[in-house]
Amino acid sequence: MLTYTPPMGWNSWNTFGANISDKLVRESADALVDLGFKDAGYNYVVIDDCWSKLERDENGRLAADEKKFPYGMKALSDYVHSKGLKFGMYSCCGVRTCANYPGSFEHEFVDAQTFADWGVDFLKYDFCYKPERANGEVLYRRMSMALRATGRDILLSACNWGVDNSGPWMRSAGANMYRSTGDIVDNFQSIKDIALSQVDKLCYGAPGCFNDMDMLVVGMYGKGNVGLGGCNDAEYRSHFALWCMFNSPLMIGCDIRTLTRESAELLKNKGLISINQNLDCRPSFVANSVDQHYAFARQLSNNEYAVGFFNMDETEGEVYCLLSDVGLTQDSGYAFEMTDVVTGEQLGTFREFCHPKIGAHDCKVYKGKLVKI
Ligand code: GAL
Repeated sequence: MLTYTPPMGWNSWNTFGANISDKLVRESADALVDLGFKDAGYNYVVIDDCWSKLERDENGRLAADEKKFPYGMKALSDYVHSKGLKFGMYSCCGVRTCANYPGSFEHEFVDAQTFADWGVDFLKYDFCYKPERANGEVLYRRMSMALRATGRDILLSACNWGVDNSGPWMRSAGANMYRSTGDIVDNFQSIKDIALSQVDKLCYGAPGCFNDMDMLVVGMYGKGNVGLGGCNDAEYRSHFALWCMFNSPLMIGCDIRTLTRESAELLKNKGLISINQNLDCRPSFVANSVDQHYAFARQLSNNEYAVGFFNMDETEGEVYCLLSDVGLTQDSGYAFEMTDVVTGEQLGTFREFCHPKIGAHDCKVYKGKLVKI
């Protein structure tokens, strides 16, 4: 299986858009290693749209823009691999990419071979400029087959934004992750809308193919290509915790070379990442929702549970979770030994409910070990 747990890495789009280069990708790969992101699990370095020439070369192949990538893609891929990382690129199932570069429609097999020749390990595959007559589901199946035909393991990251009710068919089409939402922007409203839109779709994510809630905006603070407004650290905490609770791939979208200490620590938070990467890969369920207060819970391996308390309101408040809604009865003889996964603080034993006080747009995530009392 190409990916058992949600893929993790860095993608150029959120911050850099078309403003990408060999230098940026090498420096970002260096930073992933030097700043400990690789050790935390982030191993894909992905170049998004705008990397190619505006037209195919004389042999009908995609060609890198020489101004942005003067040494070519194979050399860059070799560099990324030399750091122990994996190399990702981007194309589109339509005739042009979303930013109007050549797309892979009816060039799927030759393009897949080009990517394989360059040592690509991950292909993000978008949905713009798809001819009316073409069936999107078939186009994803086709690129999946073309990638397999190369004989190289290339992860297929489908990006059709959840249209055409893609949840039920993306796994069978061969995707390993699939964008189940529209594009994120760097503000809390966008984070909240994306997260809540997934609640009834989380059942489609499981080992091998995960709902992708889009690249992270943690650490952007309003700068860059999708930096519309920016968030504070509490909002980024909720964003990252939601993506972890909901098993989304974790693709960093900020400039990691200049990241603040708070954002770097959040993105490397072992407790939250351990929930995202939990081998049971079970979806979260809504344990409680009252107005703008949400408690999401999920089963983890080894008799553990995660409960995430999210205050999406504008004012501080207590977010409730009755543990009977997670499954625990008072006469069961069991209780939860809770730890705050963000701070590591041991919280004691709980049998009935938890109701942490949480600031506006902030969250707390507890891990509960089921113990006999
Ligand atoms: C969008 C996609 C974005 C980004 C962009 C590039 O369709 O959702 O994540 O890849 O295209 O043009």
